[in-house]
Amino acid sequence: MTHIFLYGPSGSGKSTIGRIVARSLKLPFIDLDRVIETNAGMSIPQIMAQQGESAFRDLESAALKEIVGHASSVIKIIALGGGALLREENRQVTESNGNVVVLTAELNTLFERLNKNSNHRPLLAGDLKTKLTNLLEKRREHYASFALKIQTENNSAKQTAHRVQIALGRHRLSAMGEYDVIVEQVGNLPYGDIIVTDENVAKHHLKKFNIEKSIVIPAGEEHKNLETVSRLWNAFLENGLDRKSTVIALGGGVIGDLTGFAASTYMRGIDWIAVPTTLLAMVDASIGGKTGFDLPEGKNLIGSFHPPKLVLADVSLLRTLSDRDLRSGMAEVVKHGIIADPELFAWCSNGMDWVKNNLEEIVKRAMAVKIRIIEDDPYEKGIRAALNLGHTVGHAVELVSGFTLSHGESVAIGMVVEAAYAVRVGAASRGSDEAIESTLSKLGLPTRIPDGMSHEAIIRAMRVDKKRFAGAIRFALPVTIGKVELVDATDLESVLATET
Ligand SMILES: NC(=O)c1ccc[n+]([C@@H]2O[C@H](COP(=O)([O-])OP(=O)(O)OC[C@H]3O[C@@H](n4cnc5c(N)ncnc54)[C@H](O)[C@@H]3O)[C@@H](O)[C@H]2O)c1
Repeated sequence: MTHIFLYGPSGSGKSTIGRIVARSLKLPFIDLDRVIETNAGMSIPQIMAQQGESAFRDLESAALKEIVGHASSVIKIIALGGGALLREENRQVTESNGNVVVLTAELNTLFERLNKNSNHRPLLAGDLKTKLTNLLEKRREHYASFALKIQTENNSAKQTAHRVQIALGRHRLSAMGEYDVIVEQVGNLPYGDIIVTDENVAKHHLKKFNIEKSIVIPAGEEHKNLETVSRLWNAFLENGLDRKSTVIALGGGVIGDLTGFAASTYMRGIDWIAVPTTLLAMVDASIGGKTGFDLPEGKNLIGSFHPPKLVLADVSLLRTLSDRDLRSGMAEVVKHGIIADPELFAWCSNGMDWVKNNLEEIVKRAMAVKIRIIEDDPYEKGIRAALNLGHTVGHAVELVSGFTLSHGESVAIGMVVEAAYAVRVGAASRGSDEAIESTLSKLGLPTRIPDGMSHEAIIRAMRVDKKRFAGAIRFALPVTIGKVELVDATDLESVLATET
């Protein structure tokens, strides 16, 4: 059971932040100190005064075991006392039953927060500043020994709670219904009747899953069409799927889009779970509920909004991904950095070796950008359109290349073209376009429309693009790293102009 334990010195905000995280994930919150008090029938200062610290620690160990030993399979958010894991036995109990997140803050911040009310903290009674200094000094190494630490300084409790969720890779999306997005190693799947996957993924990963039935389709964008959707509907029927069945999409964005669409229409809609296996699908395609397939005239022209019931992202599945597909996924990561996370964008400038060594962090950060946008605007009435950055030109380039350029490669080209256009029309100042081009180059992604590719054909493809409003095409343009603006353009030749 992967409980979430919040730990750290008094005043670091464990209970406040724990409550916010619990509310956001729709999970129960438990304050260990309150359990101890209830069990003992007296307050912690009374326990300390009457029975001493050692007896209090015994009660603490017993309460902790009681909570994690509870037969219920519900994950809990548990705020621990500031010294609860000094006992090795307690540390083992927490680390073998979940993740421990240590919240930290500077002495002065803790002092200010605690000064308001230190009465119920007997270890800090008396000269608060001296006591706190000594306690922190004594426990410095102890707190430092935990892998997951979040600095709470200069952040509101809500911001810190959000950072805790990002670090843990746990979100509950409220957009077109509710579903969990979880980054963790996928052992057995919680439920599901049939897996849809492609030949490449099946070869590496299908046997890992505890679902007997599977449909294996050929890999590649060229199969993201009505014929494959029809094949999936028939296979669902042949395998006896009914309205209560759940389909698992194990694969990249193509598998997710096709499976999600087939699930959204089969018997007027059945459930599906996304187990993304490409970087692109983890940080982008699996989140947000857009499903669909391509027509010869353009990409994703037919589709539906039908979010999965659960997204399980296991970063270890990316180990078998080709270098090209990993780079391709990085285009969407860069996009998310440009839209809302300058630090993530800066990480991308470190190049592919750094990326490979920090993949889990990158997945978690990039996912968080998309999740936030989806929650604000599930049906793309406004800000969700920011996610189209690089895609208007990108989709067209991908189509005109006959899919010899991958989705991510095309989006990389699209972002550079659109960033240059943003500078030309004065929406962005010079520099952001160069930063975007340089970062994408460092990741080994293409940044120019291939020589010889017809601009006329690209413009034709853009005109079919679904983001067209009354003759104009809406572009998501990067204003600066961390901000995107929606701008309508009618003169499409001028969008591609630097490329002539
Ligand atoms: N629904 C959305 O919101 C959304 C968002 C972005 C992109 N998309 C769509 O996603 C698609 C692109 O996704 P993609 O880049 O994941 O393409 P993809 O699904 O074609 O996967 C790329 C290649 O990697 C292989 N592969 C997948 N996982 C692997 C693994 N773990 N090990 C080895 N090989 C593996 C696949 O077989 C395929 O050959 C496009 O069709 C795009 O339109 C959808």
